[in-house]
Amino acid sequence: MTFVNEERKNRDLLITIDGPAASGKSSLSRSLAGKLGWKWLSTGVFYRGLAYLALLRKVDTEREIASLIDKENWSVCLNEERTSFIYNEKDITPEVYTEAVDVLASRLAGFPLVRKTLRPFQRGCFEQNRQGLVAEGRDCGTVVFPNASLKIYLTAEDNIRAARRAHQRGSLPVDHVITLQKQRDIQDISRADSPLRPPEGAFIIDAGDCSFEEMVEKAYRKSRELF
Ligand code: DC
Repeated sequence: MTFVNEERKNRDLLITIDGPAASGKSSLSRSLAGKLGWKWLSTGVFYRGLAYLALLRKVDTEREIASLIDKENWSVCLNEERTSFIYNEKDITPEVYTEAVDVLASRLAGFPLVRKTLRPFQRGCFEQNRQGLVAEGRDCGTVVFPNASLKIYLTAEDNIRAARRAHQRGSLPVDHVITLQKQRDIQDISRADSPLRPPEGAFIIDAGDCSFEEMVEKAYRKSRELF
């Protein structure tokens, strides 16, 4: 018993949630962070913010884009509910959730130099929030935080995800969203560096099997077994 309690006490208060685009990772991880009273990190914001900067500076090679990470004045700010992208001291988060940014973010996420250069910033988010962090993305459990205490992988069928994304972005036609989503899935799954896949030992949740509330409850119950 003492051993079990000791093990519990020594665990990093860190949960990762990975899965494909529009599977509901952000909503799930945000709710879970809220229930646990932990901070929430959406690692996609790093790729989105960098894509925004690349569009602004009109650069598009791997080296030029990666060099913006050191050159530009940006930061990522987090709390229980929001991961914000700050550029020149201004919160520009809404501007990194556009279709143009989606497309470029997906492309630059395939650049190994970009991933490698962003990784220490992503890891730094846990160093600054060791009192509890839920991090979501594509490679959080496999590459960014391989020692996370709980790794969740969220799956959902294509049409469920496309309907979610179409709804999030106003009245986009679902067919158009499915086409873009398929391209993004291929890029996420087939990139050589940190491809999207379930981490070893992941707790898998299928968003098609349960309501959102049930999904949060499953993740919360699993967390309470550990923390
Ligand atoms: O989750 P999102 O849609 O905000 O992610 C934006 C882009 O960044 C998407 O193309 C996938 C990529 N991404 C990634 O490659 N690795 C992560 N850990 C998070 C996001």
